[in-house]
Amino acid sequence: MQCRRDVNQSCPSRQRVEMNRCRILVILLVAFGAGGAYHVIDERVCFPETFRFGVATSAYQVEGAWNVSGKGESIWDRYTHDRPARFHNHQTGDVAADSYHLFKEDVKLMVKLGVNFYRFSISWSRILPNGFSNQINEDGIRYYHELLDELIRNNIQPMVTMYHWDLPQYLQDLGGWTNPIVADYFVDYARVLFQNFGTKVHAWITFNEPFSFCERGYGGLDAPGAQSSGFEDYLCGHNVLLAHGMVYRMYQKEFEAKLSTSVGIAIEFSWYEAASQSSDDKSAAERARDFSFGWFAHPIFSKTGDYPPMMRKRIDTISKLQGFSRSRLPHFTPEEIEMIRGSADFLGLNHYDTNLASKRTTKITPEPSFEADMGVLISKKSAWPEFDSTGSKVVPWGFRHALNWVKEAYDNPLVIITENGISLEKGLLDKRRIEYIEQFLKVLQLAITKDHCNVQGYTYWSLIDNFEWTSGFSKRYGLYQVDFDSPNKTRKPRMSSEYYARLTRTKCLPYWEF
Ligand SMILES: *[C@@H]1O[C@H](CO)[C@@H](O)[C@H](O)[C@H]1NC(C)=O
Ligand SMILES: *[C@@H]1O[C@H](CO)[C@@H](O)[C@H](O)[C@H]1NC(C)=O
Repeated sequence: MQCRRDVNQSCPSRQRVEMNRCRILVILLVAFGAGGAYHVIDERVCFPETFRFGVATSAYQVEGAWNVSGKGESIWDRYTHDRPARFHNHQTGDVAADSYHLFKEDVKLMVKLGVNFYRFSISWSRILPNGFSNQINEDGIRYYHELLDELIRNNIQPMVTMYHWDLPQYLQDLGGWTNPIVADYFVDYARVLFQNFGTKVHAWITFNEPFSFCERGYGGLDAPGAQSSGFEDYLCGHNVLLAHGMVYRMYQKEFEAKLSTSVGIAIEFSWYEAASQSSDDKSAAERARDFSFGWFAHPIFSKTGDYPPMMRKRIDTISKLQGFSRSRLPHFTPEEIEMIRGSADFLGLNHYDTNLASKRTTKITPEPSFEADMGVLISKKSAWPEFDSTGSKVVPWGFRHALNWVKEAYDNPLVIITENGISLEKGLLDKRRIEYIEQFLKVLQLAITKDHCNVQGYTYWSLIDNFEWTSGFSKRYGLYQVDFDSPNKTRKPRMSSEYYARLTRTKCLPYWEF
């Protein structure tokens, strides 16, 4: 088939799957930005007509306004203020990109991008200052209504994350995610969200990256900085899985009949490739997948539910060798396993990275450790291309492996890519970001069309530069640059924003040559 490349015209997609290469007849030569130009190519990479493109942010990383209009303190407010040395240049998210005040400008940027949806998160302590539903902050309700209305007015579907790492400090003082009661309070919070915003939200995500905030927050140096690897990280994961399942069941019981929305969870999946063909390394790679992605995905998306059997067995065995009277990984009851199993309408998948995995042999010491439980040495191949300011390697084929692994392991669930992106140095001429997006989308398109992975949307992280946790403002992921030194937090379009805008309108990769 043939089609004309035209910014405002999609490649006709007759068959969703078969058709994705259309020949280009006519050439548009458009030069903009820094001397980029479009040229003839004879094949195009296109996505199905129904495929949706979006961009993402999260509350603490962009909103600022940390202490205004009744918002309560979150663990990231406390942690940035109490432990400044743990943050790049002692930076905080107190003001960040000031999206609390500038959200209308953000929506204008999204209109320019032509995205179908916006993934953002709600700050729990802006809605419930202490975390409890007995005190609702009216300004928080107002703010998110205004943001939702602005999106809907502009035909952008809201995809809302309930928890993107910013636990109300008050709940942290009760033990945070290591205390099972926090799961009950999360259900109360979720109910307030469904009641207030349910009719306006297109899709809900309960948690963003539970592996990151449990492993790095309770086993490492992210907020709250518990540094209790192999212990509190598992308690956190356990209670988060329960909280997720409880919210999904509460939604089914109280809201599903009234609201036309869906509820999922966003789990990160870094791909782990065996470092060699030895069976030791192959099982190390599988173990690494189980201990990171499978930890949260298996209980929800597998046929059997519960933790991955390999994870269960290793932690039980090592706990016993260490003389513990019970496993450091808590057990679900049969009822809890059933409650959590199947508790999602879609899988949100965040993907950035690929690693090599090989067997790690360590003597079991009495000191618990997630690394020792997993027993995997993780590395990168030096030959892999590196074009990230953080030294991350760019390995798009790992993305395709991850998508196929999900398809095989969980019977091809509905997947939305809820994050993928790259941080680069400051600057508007971000050629490498365009290359990155292009490489990952090419692979994604093959996973959809050739491997028949059921992926229906892609979210670029991030709309704008933001506060990247302990890296502060040093890591820039935005399609739009933010000048954090300017009083107005001025946003400026990067070259990649032009690229993304063409992509969203045609559903085909724009051809770009430098
Ligand atoms: C809010 O925090 C800022 C620092 O980010 C501080 O200057 C200001 O006084 C605080 N406002 C209130 C009402 O506490
Ligand atoms: C900041 O925004 C205000 C209001 O839109 C405008 O009047 C002012 O010129 C801006 N300042 C800068 C430095 O861009």
